[in-house]
Amino acid sequence: MKRLGVEKIKKRIMQERQDLRRRLKFPSCRWFVRAGDEIVGTVSLHSIKRGDKVAEVGAMIGEEYQGRGIAARALGMLVDKVFAETDMRKLLAFVNEKNRASRRLAESLGFKKEGLLRRQLLVNGRPANEVVYGLLRNESKKRGQGFLAR
Ligand SMILES: CC(C)(COP(=O)(O)OP(=O)(O)OC[C@H]1O[C@@H](n2cnc3c(N)ncnc32)[C@H](O)[C@@H]1OP(=O)(O)O)[C@@H](O)C(=O)NCCC(=O)NCCS
Repeated sequence: MKRLGVEKIKKRIMQERQDLRRRLKFPSCRWFVRAGDEIVGTVSLHSIKRGDKVAEVGAMIGEEYQGRGIAARALGMLVDKVFAETDMRKLLAFVNEKNRASRRLAESLGFKKEGLLRRQLLVNGRPANEVVYGLLRNESKKRGQGFLAR
């Protein structure tokens, strides 16, 4: 991984703030998720392929804040933002088959199951299947206000 000094990181964050199109020159971007005054997790856009106009999304919410609909709203906001501010055609989510919360999260946002990667992951040394979900631009529906920290 590339090593950056604090000043360079600050500069990069300021550049990235402008709008999402500019962020797409980086291979990945991450947003904090805020609930009230607390930062409770992150959502990310990564594996950005500008040529194909596809990227992957991910979410992580602190255990004590899970199950309150926070990821659904935050990831929903990110999906809306990507399709509104960029010409990305499709978003993907790769999810451990046994991770029911992540699978429900993807499905609740309209992602469709597109495939199964057999024994793709090693979880605590044990192979696990990974489900590939996809959401095309024209399948995405607009959602409400949310939790992304500015
Ligand atoms: C996956 C994760 C982000 C979900 O966050 P969350 O804020 O708890 O999710 P939400 O409350 O918005 O719930 C989203 C959906 O998942 C369901 N869900 C939440 N926790 C669940 C659980 N433990 N088991 C089954 N379903 C669950 C919710 O009911 C909801 O589905 P619905 O719309 O049909 O009701 C969170 O569990 C997490 O950070 N897990 C660890 C990291 C991870 O696996 N990231 C996913 C990589 S993409």
